[in-house]
Amino acid sequence: MSLSAVVLAAGLGTRMRSPLAKVLHPVLGRPMVGWIVEALQAVGADVVVVVHHQEDQVRAALAPLGVRFAHQEAPRGTGDAVASALSLLPNAGPVVVTAGDTPLLCARSIQRLLATHVGSCTVAAFCAADPTGYGRMVPGVGVVEEAACTVEQRTIRVVNSGLYVFDAAYLRQRLPHLQPHAPKGELWLTDLVGPDAAVVADFAEEEFLGVNDRAQLAQARGILRRRVNRAWASSGVDFADLDTISVDVGVQLEPGAVLGLGAVLTGACRVAGEVGPHCVVHDTVIEPGARVLAGSVCDGASVGAGAVVGPLARLRPGADIRAGAHVGNFVEVKKAVLHEGAKANHLAYIGDAEVGAGANVGAGTITCNYDGVSKHKTTIGAGAFIGSNSALVAPIRIGDGAIVGAGSTLTQDVPADAIAVERAPVKLTEATAERLRAHYRKRAGRS
Ligand code: UD1
Ligand code: CA
Repeated sequence: MSLSAVVLAAGLGTRMRSPLAKVLHPVLGRPMVGWIVEALQAVGADVVVVVHHQEDQVRAALAPLGVRFAHQEAPRGTGDAVASALSLLPNAGPVVVTAGDTPLLCARSIQRLLATHVGSCTVAAFCAADPTGYGRMVPGVGVVEEAACTVEQRTIRVVNSGLYVFDAAYLRQRLPHLQPHAPKGELWLTDLVGPDAAVVADFAEEEFLGVNDRAQLAQARGILRRRVNRAWASSGVDFADLDTISVDVGVQLEPGAVLGLGAVLTGACRVAGEVGPHCVVHDTVIEPGARVLAGSVCDGASVGAGAVVGPLARLRPGADIRAGAHVGNFVEVKKAVLHEGAKANHLAYIGDAEVGAGANVGAGTITCNYDGVSKHKTTIGAGAFIGSNSALVAPIRIGDGAIVGAGSTLTQDVPADAIAVERAPVKLTEATAERLRAHYRKRAGRS
């Protein structure tokens, strides 16, 4: 039978103190509510998200996930929220209901609740360290909201998790008849969880950590980070530790990849090589045997087999570092190919360029790619040698095997195998340095 799910996400989330809708706060590259949607889809559910506050934002963010939306007219309580999704649900069959702000809930737990479900309602419960604020599971009664509890019932620590499986026909029959509760006139979904409801009470409290403020958001991120890291580690990825390394959900790691302390991988990366400590890597491909060393920042780049980048290098979009090439410390590469075995080991800017195989770009070399209006290309031939502190004013071509003398500012092409040196002649006057210093001392009154 087809499975449906309703995610309640119409609440405001004032305590986040954020202009962004609460359920859209990113957790490892996915909006918080996306984690729940993903877990529900993993068990095969057709998901309906109930929206109200910042509805347009939420709809836009979740559209790629292939969910449907139900508009709740006003947030009049959890019962009203599910009622507003009724028209999108089938007439009969199981419906999972859960909140949108519990990103730690696993597909496995949802599956476990579904497996026990037979009647009209099955509810997931857990034993809370502190039950304050939760509905209590009162034997022979069902869920009793805290506001309605007797003093004795308040001491019960087994609480309603907010995850349920209902039969759709039961929801259709009961929801239209919910009675509002004083003082706010809310309609409570928990009024549908009576003495006949099946209770599965051994769920882990951690999975139901609700995110209501930024501290809980950070806590949820930490837990999910470890969960994601542990899964990758068991697939053969080497993690320096499980706590400080952050791997977003769009990142693909290959067995044998190595991640250093504090490495942060975001966007659509594919990593088979090594990412050193404290690197930030976004939308980047790192091939097997490639090494990105400590403190490097890569964005939209590609690092080929056996290439070495860093420490402290910066690869910007379009940086294509081919097999065996080297990019050293304080080198910035943008929209440029470094062909096989090319090297730029220290302090350089290589932008809008093509650097031939085996070429050597000396320390301090700058491709002057921008004239204030347009960008221009620099081409450096295979095996060329660019002396330190050269400025290559683009558009310019340095031919294969050419040599550019240190300190040259070049504004014209250099043919293959040529030597180009642009340098003012040296003025050299012998035996004058000490005389000049004496003059300066006298002028300063220190003779
Ligand atoms: C609810 C349960 C409580 C349970 C607890 C678990 C009810 C009446 N009580 O209480 O028994 O222990 O969850 O966390 O259900 N929402 C809407 N529309 C609304 C109201 C709420 O979409 O009109 C959404 C919220 O955005 C939230 C979820 O429903 O994601 C839960 O609502 P909330 O008001 O937080 O319920 P609790 O008081 O936590
Ligand atoms: Ca010069």
